Amino acid sequence: MKKLEERIVQDGRVLSDTVLKVDSFLTHQVDVALMKEIGHVFAEHFKYSGITKVVTIEASGIAPAVYVAEALGVPMVFAKKSKNITMTEEILTAEVYSFTKQVTSQISIVEAFLSKDDRLLIVDDFLANGQAAKGLLEIIGQAGASVEAIAIVIEKSFQGGRQLLEEAGQTVVSLARIASLENGTVVFAPADV
Ligand code: G4P
Repeated sequence: MKKLEERIVQDGRVLSDTVLKVDSFLTHQVDVALMKEIGHVFAEHFKYSGITKVVTIEASGIAPAVYVAEALGVPMVFAKKSKNITMTEEILTAEVYSFTKQVTSQISIVEAFLSKDDRLLIVDDFLANGQAAKGLLEIIGQAGASVEAIAIVIEKSFQGGRQLLEEAGQTVVSLARIASLENGTVVFAPADV
């Protein structure tokens, strides 16, 4: 997505050889006009796929996921990172290890929000090592639902996430693919959309 790549170059900040800061439009402050366009681009791509629900993980996945769901006309459900007192129903859980934070956390979705008849589109803001998506796949597997694809806003192609997910039989569709962040410069690989 050319416009997203341009925005990354304009407003992204390379913090290190592995970390890109995009908090002015994606991960903290959200450019809703850009999110809306992202929603339409993914919805166009998946409009004949029979998606019944969009699934993401809190927090930064929620903004793009809402707009994709809106454009597809389906609900969005997000995995929670902590259980709150209203989650009294049966919940599905998975452990997610973050290489970035070097901690393992439990993510959960109320069982009633996923069914074996669902055809899901996973949406996330970043794909790095693929652990978040792997955790979501585990929860979705417990529900017996199927996954059409994993839709990513920014993929860091120099990390192992895509390979991990493709080896698990999944399709990854990324709007921007970053081949390198070395020397403070963003180098893109050809995007999927
Ligand atoms: P993984 O899920 O692909 O394995 O990613 P990893 O554990 O390496 O990343 C942990 C968190 O850091 C994730 O957010 C992920 O989206 C985010 N992240 C990874 N690389 C970058 C990067 O280069 N830039 C930015 N801005 N974020 C990155 P999270 O912990 O789930 O946080 P949040 O969604 O609650 O903000």
